[in-house]
Amino acid sequence: MNQLSRAQAIPFIDLAAQRRRIAKSIDDAVARVMAHCQFINGPEVTQLEAALVAFSGAKHVVTCASGTDALLMVLMAKGVGRGDAVLCPSFTFSATGEAVALTGATPVFVDVDEASFNMDAASLKRGIATARKAGLKPVGVIPVDLFGQSADHDAVAGVAEAEGLFVLDDAAQGFGASYKGRKLGTFGTATATSFFPAKPLGCFGDGGAIFTDDAKLAETLRSIRVHGQGADKYDNVRLGLTGRLDTLQAAILIEKLKIFEDEIHARNKVADRYARGLGNLVTVPHLASGCTSVWAQYTIRLPNGTDRDGFAAALKAQGIPTAIYYPKSMHQQTAYRDFPVAEGGLAVSERLSDDVISLPMHAYLDEATQDRVIAAVRGAIST
Ligand SMILES: Cc1ncc(COP(=O)(O)O)c(C=O)c1O
Repeated sequence: MNQLSRAQAIPFIDLAAQRRRIAKSIDDAVARVMAHCQFINGPEVTQLEAALVAFSGAKHVVTCASGTDALLMVLMAKGVGRGDAVLCPSFTFSATGEAVALTGATPVFVDVDEASFNMDAASLKRGIATARKAGLKPVGVIPVDLFGQSADHDAVAGVAEAEGLFVLDDAAQGFGASYKGRKLGTFGTATATSFFPAKPLGCFGDGGAIFTDDAKLAETLRSIRVHGQGADKYDNVRLGLTGRLDTLQAAILIEKLKIFEDEIHARNKVADRYARGLGNLVTVPHLASGCTSVWAQYTIRLPNGTDRDGFAAALKAQGIPTAIYYPKSMHQQTAYRDFPVAEGGLAVSERLSDDVISLPMHAYLDEATQDRVIAAVRGAIST
C-alpha cells in the first residue's frame, strides 16, 4: 500500500461529528416524542414553526415534508398551472424546475451570473420575453440561493415587480444566509427550504418549510399540506398533499436550530481559510456585495484545460472526496430539455457544469483537515 492510499478518507459532510456534539439533547428530544406518541402534528411541529419565525424574521412558517413539497405547495397555492410560465435558473438542483412542471406549468430556464452562480437578472428579462413569444403567461420567478449564497434579491424583485410576477425564493441550500442584512425567508411572496440531512440545517430524514409574511397564503398552505382540508381533515376544499413534517423530525430540528448560528460561523471560517489557501490557484467562490453564504457547498472552478475527472481522482487517492454540483444544467437534462430557455442561450450555466467541483465543507472540518484538502488541491493542479 503506498503512502497516498493509506491516507485516511475524510467525509464530504460530517453528520456524525454534529451528532456527537448534541447527542444527548437529540436523544432526549426523540425520547419525548416516543413518550407522547403524537407522531403527526405533535407539539414539536408548532414549537419548531415558532422557533423558525424567531430565527428568520418571517411572519409565518409552515413546515412540510420536503423542500420539493415546499416549492410545489406554494405554486399550488398560487394557482399556477397549464399555460403559465415560471422562470427558474438552469444551474440548480432539479427540484426547482420539477416543482413547476408538476403543476402543469412550464419552467422557462434562465442563465446565472458567472461569479455568484445565481440568477442573472438580464437573462431573467430575456426569459420573460421568450415565454411570451411561446404563448405562455409568465406568472412567477424562482431565484435559487445556490450553494448557500443569497441570490441578488433586489435585482430579481425589480424585474418581478415590473412584470407583475410573484417571487418564490428557493432557499433549500441558503437558509440561514442573509441579503443586505436581512435573513432569507423574508424575500418575495414566499421562501421554500429543505431540511434534507446534508443541508446546512438538516434533519434525520426528509423535511422542509415555507416562510411568508402573507397570512392568507400561510392558511392556504396549511390546508394544502393536509389534502386541501377545510373545516376538518374530512372536508376537502382544494387539492393537496400528504405534505406534513413528522413530529420526530421537528423535535430533532428544534435541537439543531439551537446550534445553527454557531455552525454557520464555523462554515464561514472554513470558507475563508480555503479562499486564502486556494485563491491564487483556482477560482474560489465569490460573495456578491450584500450577500452572505451558509456554504451548503464550497464550489471551485478549475483552471482552463484541467482534467476534472483526473483532479477528482487525485484527491480521492488522498482520501479527499469531491462532488460535482451539477454536471448538467437543467435544460441539458433528458426530462427538461424540451422546455424553453431564455433567448441568448445559457452559456454560463453550461460552462459551470463543465468546470465546477465541490470540496468537503461542514462546520466540523478542523484546520489540519482543511490543510490536507488545500495541499491536495494545490498538488493536483500543479501536476
Ligand atoms: C436548490 C434546491 N431546491 C430544492 C431542493 C429539494 O429539497 P428536498 O430534497 O428536500 O425535496 C433541493 C434539495 O437538494 C435543492 O438543492
